[in-house]
Amino acid sequence: MTDPRLDLSFADGVARLTIRRPDKLNALDAAMVDALLPLCRQIERSDAFVVILSGEGGKSFCAGGDISAWSGWSPEDFGRHWVRDGHAAFDALARLAQPVIAVLDGHCLGGGLELAACADLRIAETHVKIGQPETGLGIIPGWSGTQRAVRRFGAQAVRRMALMGEVFSAEDALGLGIVDQVVPTGAGHAAAEAVAERLRARSPRAAELTKMMINAAEGEERERVIEALAGTIAAASPDLAEGLAAFREKRKPQFSGQKDKA
Ligand code: COA
Repeated sequence: MTDPRLDLSFADGVARLTIRRPDKLNALDAAMVDALLPLCRQIERSDAFVVILSGEGGKSFCAGGDISAWSGWSPEDFGRHWVRDGHAAFDALARLAQPVIAVLDGHCLGGGLELAACADLRIAETHVKIGQPETGLGIIPGWSGTQRAVRRFGAQAVRRMALMGEVFSAEDALGLGIVDQVVPTGAGHAAAEAVAERLRARSPRAAELTKMMINAAEGEERERVIEALAGTIAAASPDLAEGLAAFREKRKPQFSGQKDKA
């Protein structure tokens, strides 16, 4: 499942995921959301050590979910597909092994902010506007805009955007910790490349494990992290090779712990 409006390219260990729908301010429709999940799998299995997430056009990172698509959904399908599929795709992005840097070079609204929330670092250009307009449209922030956004930005900042309708400037967002760096208009990509270059010197494996533990501490993905770490440890023990060999050879396994005790 691919969509030309979501572009993924790899070069020099950097995965670049770009929303290419500038005529609609990079709003995400259901087909784009569907395409995001397999792209995340592709990134996860690649040798990229970092991901740069951006939107094309310089006017908008992402103006949110495609509002015009909503009228076609029944309430059940809205919850089932639009919201749940969005969660699955955004969860995959937030839980990538690699650090994700988002370049916010324009509107970052609603689903666009929820998308940016999946990144590990957000770089905003000075002209950026950040907000959660959903309640003004009669809907709720449904791609974790009240959950991951609260975990990552704090409940009060989310209240101000989602309940009160405040739209933050890049400087406001920096003060509130919603973005990590503010750079002049046009300088966002260079700033992201500089961060990527800094990450190049660090161990990808250590970074992956560290990201998983931070995510777990934050409540992002506790269950998966515990089992992934334990699974890695178990798979690194000779017991797995012995278990597999015993299965193949139709005999009882001789595990190392059992031998030690004998
Ligand atoms: N969904 C669907 N289409 C969108 C969109 C969205 N979220 N945001 C922008 N667009 C479309 C506009 O309909 C317009 O399409 P058209 O040229 O076919 O009419 C195009 O993108 C350009 O947007 P426009 O409104 O003309 O640009 P602007 O500079 O005047 O205003 C915004 C920019 C961001 C203030 C305005 O587009 C807006 O309020 N968008 C909705 C943001 C929102 O509520 N997002 C939350 C959804 S979860």
